[in-house]
Amino acid sequence: MTSQQQKPEGLPYTPLCDRLGIDVPIISAGMGPIAGPELVAAVSNAGGLGVLGCTSMSPDEVRSVIRRTRELTDRPFGVDLILPARIEQGGMSVGEVASLIPDEHRATAARIGADLGVEPPPEHSADRAALGTDAEAQVEVILQEGVPVFVGALGSPGFVAERFHEAGATVVSIVGSTKQAMAVVKDGADVVIAQGTEGGGHTGHVGTFALLPQVLDAVDVPVVAAGGIGDGRGLAASLLMGCQAVWVGTRFLATEEAGIAGWQKAGIVAAADQSPVISRAYTGKRFRMLPNDWTRAWDEADVEPLPMPLQPVLAGMTLGTLGTDRGGREGVSMNGAGNIAGLIDEIVPAAEVVRRMAAEAAELLAGAGGHLR
Ligand SMILES: Cc1cc2nc3c(=O)[nH]c(=O)nc-3n(C[C@H](O)[C@H](O)[C@H](O)COP(=O)(O)O)c2cc1C
Repeated sequence: MTSQQQKPEGLPYTPLCDRLGIDVPIISAGMGPIAGPELVAAVSNAGGLGVLGCTSMSPDEVRSVIRRTRELTDRPFGVDLILPARIEQGGMSVGEVASLIPDEHRATAARIGADLGVEPPPEHSADRAALGTDAEAQVEVILQEGVPVFVGALGSPGFVAERFHEAGATVVSIVGSTKQAMAVVKDGADVVIAQGTEGGGHTGHVGTFALLPQVLDAVDVPVVAAGGIGDGRGLAASLLMGCQAVWVGTRFLATEEAGIAGWQKAGIVAAADQSPVISRAYTGKRFRMLPNDWTRAWDEADVEPLPMPLQPVLAGMTLGTLGTDRGGREGVSMNGAGNIAGLIDEIVPAAEVVRRMAAEAAELLAGAGGHLR
């Protein structure tokens, strides 16, 4: 606990809140540039923990968003990166990865792009590191900047855990199965985020309600619940199960601070529970999102999407961006979203999401829900 920190009266609070120096056990998910300084600072200023999504950024960009966040909040926040399966995969440029893309897939992507009327982007990004391959250099910046919480998705934190521990930071890993949970703890994770398949973005096969008790039984570090948590009911249920916080993505997409276009936020508000689907058309890995012209075209294509890091480079070469920028284009921009999107019916400030979620959970946990009597 930080020296000034007090347990907030009447709100849910866990030992992990002490460790992270936060007031309420609500963490906003790293979601690429969508989770930028504005969203992260708003969540941290509201008493939760905001986490920057830095996977697609160059090391200089990572430094710049960390510094911008510090201008907006003096509260703790974290940085999230997609880690490669093996660090030897690090440092490949977009150009190098592009040279490995089979002709058949180039032709398919070019045909889909032409059918959709997408102008091929200029070749300016060939020297950039390909998605998920620059973790070593990104980690160096996060360490230099003294960020207190590091969140790793997909791969193992093994190659970075010791350095973060020496710096006094907390290492968090996102997993989708009990086996992965045990592996990341062995590799140095201090906290495990267990995400059910209903979550937005990269996702596994096991549902949240089945996954959480099994991960809680399998590891002896704090477990954070993720996948389909969008209000105080999800927070209360997670805490009752024994989790120490929630990691929330989709609910924060429909906030004023989220770095996506207005039509993308409107898409979340309009979505039903069954609207999000799993597609490999953007990142090469299973990614839950609202379908669009690009994903539908790949569903019907003669070839399967390539694995990461090839498919993101192919998508980038064709579309110019993975589409998580503010100026995203309807029909081709990636629209990550989980099944909880159906619950979301308004765009509010991120602080309001934190406030409502904590207050509703507190009421339920105090036994005021009424339905048990
Ligand atoms: C649009 C979008 C982008 C995402 N990008 C990332 C990312 O860059 N890194 C990451 O670790 N997780 C990413 N995720 C997954 C989230 O971190 C989180 O695990 C998930 O959203 C939780 O489930 P929920 O959407 O049901 O709240 C993304 C999710 C969404 C919806």
